[in-house]
Amino acid sequence: MTGKNKNLEKVFDEIMGEKRYETVNSCTIEIPAPFCLTVFGASGDLTQRKIIPALYRLDRDKLFPGDFVILGTARTALTNSAFRELMHAAVKNAFPDDFEKSSWMKFSQRLYYAQIDYDQSDSFRRLRRKIIALEKKHETGGNRIFYLAIPPDVYEPVISRIGSEGLSQAVRGYAHIVIEKPIGRDIESAKRLNAVLSSSFSERQIYRMDHYLAKETVQNILMFRFANSIFEPLWNRRYIDHVQLTVAETLGVEHRAGYYEKAGVLRDMFQNHIFQLLALTAMEPPSVFEAERVRDEKAKVFRSIRRFPLDRIEDAVVIGQYGEGNINGEKVLRYRDEPGVASDSVIPTFAAMKIMIDNWRWNGVPFYLRSGKRLSEKKAEISIHFKPVPHLMFAQALEESIDPNTLVMRIQPDEGINLHFQAKTPGARLCLGPVLMDFSYQKIFSLSDYERVLLDCMQGDQMLFVRGDGVEETWSLLSPVIEKLESKTYQKNFPNYDSGSTGPDAASELLRKDGRSWRAM
Ligand code: BG6
Repeated sequence: MTGKNKNLEKVFDEIMGEKRYETVNSCTIEIPAPFCLTVFGASGDLTQRKIIPALYRLDRDKLFPGDFVILGTARTALTNSAFRELMHAAVKNAFPDDFEKSSWMKFSQRLYYAQIDYDQSDSFRRLRRKIIALEKKHETGGNRIFYLAIPPDVYEPVISRIGSEGLSQAVRGYAHIVIEKPIGRDIESAKRLNAVLSSSFSERQIYRMDHYLAKETVQNILMFRFANSIFEPLWNRRYIDHVQLTVAETLGVEHRAGYYEKAGVLRDMFQNHIFQLLALTAMEPPSVFEAERVRDEKAKVFRSIRRFPLDRIEDAVVIGQYGEGNINGEKVLRYRDEPGVASDSVIPTFAAMKIMIDNWRWNGVPFYLRSGKRLSEKKAEISIHFKPVPHLMFAQALEESIDPNTLVMRIQPDEGINLHFQAKTPGARLCLGPVLMDFSYQKIFSLSDYERVLLDCMQGDQMLFVRGDGVEETWSLLSPVIEKLESKTYQKNFPNYDSGSTGPDAASELLRKDGRSWRAM
């Protein structure tokens, strides 16, 4: 639909009193219908750091309807007012310079709490009655969202009990469930969890969250590729030599050893975030920009990835674990000395891999992926390395070879895009030098990743969520690799990189043996 028609549609909707819109950064945002959001795990870290602050900001910025209610639920016994106090502190902590008391007072009136036992059907019966009472009081029209901010070992009982209480059946409005990673820890458990989800919810009701997909710059990968005509013709094996994808962190495991010791970097970052970035970079253009069509194309990429050579796994995958070192001038502990980590842990905190995509577009073009904790910089970027010019007619005049063009999509921080190309440096001699064309996102107000996905879930837009088959495809690729590596990693192999470095030497070797090198971190 053209912009003009869209505007007409908007005016019509507003006159009819059906929809309300707000404009943020010249982008029109539809205000969702009234809703009742139940957060499981409401006294936990995720609720306090991400979910409630995002909900508060959406309300403060007038992106919420007049009627809504948020019901927190967890094992901890709390009154409504104790829950409101806890969330008050969480929001203040999230926005120390941007906290508005009056907005909070208004928002907090919508917060309620109910204690729950995840294993007791009675508890869910009471929860159901409470939801119905709150829906009536706040006139939320039957639209329900269930947000699972709970440890993965209680996903299954909670999902099943939501289903058996009939809460997943939308009678008047919609019933959506939001679930965060990890969706399983291998292919079998992922399939089991998908089966539990689909016995109570249809795929249209399931919102599997990957917060990377909600990052502004990640969404821009598709816009950049498919809304410009000059890059797409070059986006293939004829012009591209290889692609690099880096997600580097300076943080260590922090307070999450309980989870991380069972996960490691391949489950924590590759199966989800990194494979999603890969799919967006490599996928074919969908016929329409619609959730199902985009997710179809991503699934096709996963299905085209060549299986890893398990008998020669080191040829394609390198893993590492951080030792002690310095980050921003401060001495930091090695992974094995972090609180909650086993002193002989063989959990990888770094991985690098080479991926081949066996399809017409990418045949012969390696994708090199790497991610790790406690590296020298926090940085996420995708770089497209073009082939060198076919014939160097300046060869006699130049002393050095010239660098091929590189296009870099900076996901974070310093979000933007740049293109490295060659230009003549001024002067009489024939002298070429690399120059940079740079676009940088301004730091203007935009929705945070959690704000974006919460709004999309309320509007029934699944574009930024992962479909069940996508999850199973990535697990089926990675599960055998993880199993193989786990069987081959011994205590003496780790630590193999210093905190504050760029990762293990073997990661550099992975590219060096192909005659390539990583971009500087
Ligand atoms: C999470 C991982 O999904 O993503 C963490 O569990 C990681 O280990 C985090 O630190 C990185 O996210 P971001 O948005 O800070 O790049």
